[in-house]
Amino acid sequence: MEDDHRIAAVSEIPDDTTFLFTIRNGFDEEEAILVEQDGEIRAWRNYCQHWTDVRFDKGDGATVRDGELVCGKHGALFEADSGVCTYGPCEGAVLEAVDIAVEDGAVYLTDPEYEFVQRGSSIEYDLSSNRSLGFD
Ligand code: FES
Repeated sequence: MEDDHRIAAVSEIPDDTTFLFTIRNGFDEEEAILVEQDGEIRAWRNYCQHWTDVRFDKGDGATVRDGELVCGKHGALFEADSGVCTYGPCEGAVLEAVDIAVEDGAVYLTDPEYEFVQRGSSIEYDLSSNRSLGFD
């Protein structure tokens, strides 16, 4: 697996929150999160299916409780392993997956649609409105 696709060591993925990283699709930078549940790691795009301008992880980790990712805005719950919303205003919706692979204790981006940019966010946000600046 190529080093420039390496997102993080498996040991860096927290149990009760998410690991934020930035990917690029053409000229557009976007965010994704890693979530670990029962030893399985998944990657999802970092936005809610209810209001797509709402990020789960705003830079300090999203809440993961009992295997479900919690949207802080209206409390929707998404299964960490399937991405399915089990409760809330977007019940039945499914998160957008990002392809990853785990090899030799590290997580790599394998999704052909995206390039890995960096750990954390590289996108500037206007915190007063919770929207990204200039990339909508
Ligand atoms: S924006 Fe996530 S539940 Fe409403």
